[in-house]
Amino acid sequence: MNSVIDLLTRHRSIRKFKPDPIPGDQLQAIIASAQMASTSSSVQAYTIIAATDPALKKELARLAGNQAYVEQCGLFLVFCADLNRLRKATEQSGEVFHQNTESFLVASMDAALAAQNAAIAAESLGLGICYIGGIRNNPDGVAEALKLPELVYPVFGMCVGVPDQEPSLRPRLPQTAVLHENGYQSDRSDEGVRRYDETTRKYYEERTGGKQSITWSRSMADKYRQPVRAHLKPFLEKQGFRLE
Ligand SMILES: Cc1cc2nc3c(=O)[nH]c(=O)nc-3n(C[C@H](O)[C@H](O)[C@H](O)COP(=O)(O)O)c2cc1C
Repeated sequence: MNSVIDLLTRHRSIRKFKPDPIPGDQLQAIIASAQMASTSSSVQAYTIIAATDPALKKELARLAGNQAYVEQCGLFLVFCADLNRLRKATEQSGEVFHQNTESFLVASMDAALAAQNAAIAAESLGLGICYIGGIRNNPDGVAEALKLPELVYPVFGMCVGVPDQEPSLRPRLPQTAVLHENGYQSDRSDEGVRRYDETTRKYYEERTGGKQSITWSRSMADKYRQPVRAHLKPFLEKQGFRLE
C-alpha cells in the first residue's frame, strides 16, 4: 500500500546481531523519532538510557534472565517511565506534586509510545530490534545498575543492531478478533481465537520440524496459570510510585 505500512507489516523481533555499533547519526535519528511520539499533555514522562558500556550491557543481560542478545546487540536502550522530572517541575513552581495510578499509566504509556517510534525508526534504517521485558525480572538490580532515582522505573529494554538472522514473521490474531464494531463482540473474539489456535499450532510445528505443537491458548494458559512478576508492586512502591 505504501512503504511505511510495508515496513510495519514486515516487523519481526531480532535475537542475533552482528557486533557493529550504531553510528551516532543513526542513534540521534532514532531518539528524535522517539521524542516525536504523541505524549499525554506533552508531559514526556520517560527517559531513555543508552547502555553503551560493555560491562553494563553484560550485567543487564544477566539481570534480564541471561538473554545474550542484550550484550551482543550494537545498542541497548532502556525505556524508563519517569515522574521524577515532573515532580521537580511541579515543586520548583512552588506546588505540591500529586501522583496516582493515572500518572503511573501516563508515564508507562509515554515510554511505550516513544519506544515503538524508536523501533520503527531503527527498522526503517535496516536495523533489527527486540523488546526486553526480561529486565523486569530483576527490577531492583536494574534500578541499581542504572542508578535510577525515585519515581523512575524501567518499563522494558530494547536491543537495536544489525540483524544476523532472518526469522520468519510471527502470525497475529485474525483482524476480526481484535477489531470490533460499535461495541465489544465476544463471539468475533472467540471465533478469531479458534482460528488462531490452528494457525499457531501449524506455525510451531513447521518452525520446530514437528517437535513442538502448541496453540496460542495453551501457551497463554502456561504463562497465566500463575502470577507473573508479582514482585513489581512492592518494587514500584519502593521507587516511590503510589498506585492509588
Ligand atoms: C513489552 C515487550 C517485552 C518483550 N520482552 C521480550 C524479552 O524479554 N525477550 C525476548 O526475547 N522477546 C521479548 N519480546 C518480544 C516478543 O516476544 C515478540 O514481540 C512477540 O513474540 C511477537 O514476535 P515478533 O516481534 O517477532 O513479531 C517482548 C516484546 C514486548 C512488546
